[in-house]
Amino acid sequence: MSSRNIFLDVDTGVDDALALLLAARSPQLNVKGVTCVAGNVPIEKVVRNTLDVLEVAGASHVPVARGMEFPLVEKMFNAAEIHGENGLGGIDLPASGSTVIDRHAVEFLAGEIDNSSEKVTIVALGPLTNIATLFRIYPNVVSGIEQLVIMGGAIGSGNTTATAEFNIRQDPEAADVVFNTDVPTLLYVWDVFTRVRFDKQEVDEMIGSDNDCKSLAGKLLLSYLTTKKEDTAGIGDAGAVACLLIPEAITTDVMPISVELIGEYTRGQTVFDQRKRKLSRLQPKIQKSISGMTEVVMDLDVESFRNTFVDNIVK
Ligand code: BDR
Ligand code: CA
Repeated sequence: MSSRNIFLDVDTGVDDALALLLAARSPQLNVKGVTCVAGNVPIEKVVRNTLDVLEVAGASHVPVARGMEFPLVEKMFNAAEIHGENGLGGIDLPASGSTVIDRHAVEFLAGEIDNSSEKVTIVALGPLTNIATLFRIYPNVVSGIEQLVIMGGAIGSGNTTATAEFNIRQDPEAADVVFNTDVPTLLYVWDVFTRVRFDKQEVDEMIGSDNDCKSLAGKLLLSYLTTKKEDTAGIGDAGAVACLLIPEAITTDVMPISVELIGEYTRGQTVFDQRKRKLSRLQPKIQKSISGMTEVVMDLDVESFRNTFVDNIVK
């Protein structure tokens, strides 16, 4: 079985850590590199967490590059209240002996895409600052990208604000650049992100596993149970990786999408035009037309996602 070449762009992050474990352990995926971006926690912690999680996953050979430290325009804020001060829910992993490569994440990605004999897939799980910068400096990379999978946006309610999802709200201008770039994109929105969950008993069973990856996954999920005071914990970003593993388990729809940049209450909101195409063509009369067609994950088979997550992290 040939495996798919992917790059992960992360802001590790409890659920980015779950995504790293899943991607690194899945034989169907060949993780060619991981780029770090500031998001859930500042970039130094993102880098530290990423290196340490890859070590547990037996993937310390995977190159890790440090990327953008701040959003393109706005000041930095983060999500330490969800991910803990260290970004891993307080879990203290043994420090990996690996270090980041001596190239900026954007340079690294551009070089790798350019040198690759086949098209690559990028899975972006944090604010889109690295990816937007890549597209602005190296617009030609687009032809070397088979698919860009993004965790971001919300059709219904947001999480960071009433209307905006965290990754998009953290850097709306970057998201705007990316959604206006003509690259095949699959958007794993907040609405489906929250649906793949494990209860306390299942989490305890994972923690008790003699497999290091499964046990770490359990500990990460337990940190969510504790912090969020909920009965079940979601795998979050790891679901975006699972879309590559079981595409038959998702239902998608293609639609135009825009990012609200100036709304006083809605900055960072992703605006999805779900109207019939004929209707949306009338829009320019009264409002700027929404650009950029994006494939959006509208529904998923929860049980397939849960099984794939547990089965693959022990591989
Ligand atoms: C996104 O924000 C972060 O907290 C998670 O890692 C995920 O990428 C969800 O809004
Ligand atoms: Ca993330």
